[in-house]
Amino acid sequence: MGQHRKVRKAVFPVAGLGTRFLPATKAVPKEMLTVVDKPVIQYVVDEALEAGIEHLVFVTGRGKGVIEDYFDIQYELEQTLKERNKKAELTLLSGILPKAGMASFTRQQEPLGLGHAVWCARDIVGDEPFALLLPDMIMRGEKGCMKGMIELYDQSGGNVIAVEECHPDQAHKYGIVGVGDAIGSGFRITGMVEKPAKGTAPSNFFINGRYILQPEIFSILETQERGAGNEIQLTDGMLKLAASQDFAGYHFKGETFDCGAKDGFILANVAFALERADIRPTVEEPLKQLLAALKG
Ligand code: G1P
Repeated sequence: MGQHRKVRKAVFPVAGLGTRFLPATKAVPKEMLTVVDKPVIQYVVDEALEAGIEHLVFVTGRGKGVIEDYFDIQYELEQTLKERNKKAELTLLSGILPKAGMASFTRQQEPLGLGHAVWCARDIVGDEPFALLLPDMIMRGEKGCMKGMIELYDQSGGNVIAVEECHPDQAHKYGIVGVGDAIGSGFRITGMVEKPAKGTAPSNFFINGRYILQPEIFSILETQERGAGNEIQLTDGMLKLAASQDFAGYHFKGETFDCGAKDGFILANVAFALERADIRPTVEEPLKQLLAALKG
């Protein structure tokens, strides 16, 4: 079984171009689009922090500087809020500010694929296991997905990938894993394929964008050839690593919203708004009316 070194760092690949959200993403990174009143990236960072992550590593790209600003002090704004005695707003802002030195930023200079983006984080992560959270996906569950994965990792060691079930018609959009025997509360992953052609997927368990990986993945990604979509695929690198290390599957049972797609993003806004005591009362009834009008 694998090593049990603590997972301290989380990598967030935030270099994606967001072409599915043009024109909004012409000037605003897709990770900064808001779900209710927080940017998408904040939900993903919160999930990592809930899991005990101590250092945030952002792999950014051109035009993504506002993400770095978001995780910094906004001096003028905070000064103005102080002068106006806006205590609640100041508390809100200080609550989301990472501690000094707790966040690192590096750039992926060319959009060569997820595997390449992860490889760009190699020097900051160093020789230790790390969490990887794809920022398109935001999740809701009794327990955060990454927290559950860390609990499984404490039993299994090695590498852990979170999966969920999809309709077989949807399997070609994702990385799909093969399912083996139980390991702790998870299962042994017996194979992986990125975006399988229709009808060829080994299961309907898709990779939902959350990973715990051992640092040996970096040297594999360094020479990884392009795969599906002519991109350097993380899934192909993980498949190679699986020849020498265990991979456990963690079946996440909560809800996942793909905020990289318009429908998922809209559903996330509705779902998170309806769980807010300050918003639900003025949104629920008009929403029901909108839906009723569609039926009529
Ligand atoms: C990436 C991964 C894929 C995973 C998906 C989850 O694909 O390569 O294995 O299932 O994220 O969102 P992408 O969405 O970048 O095409």
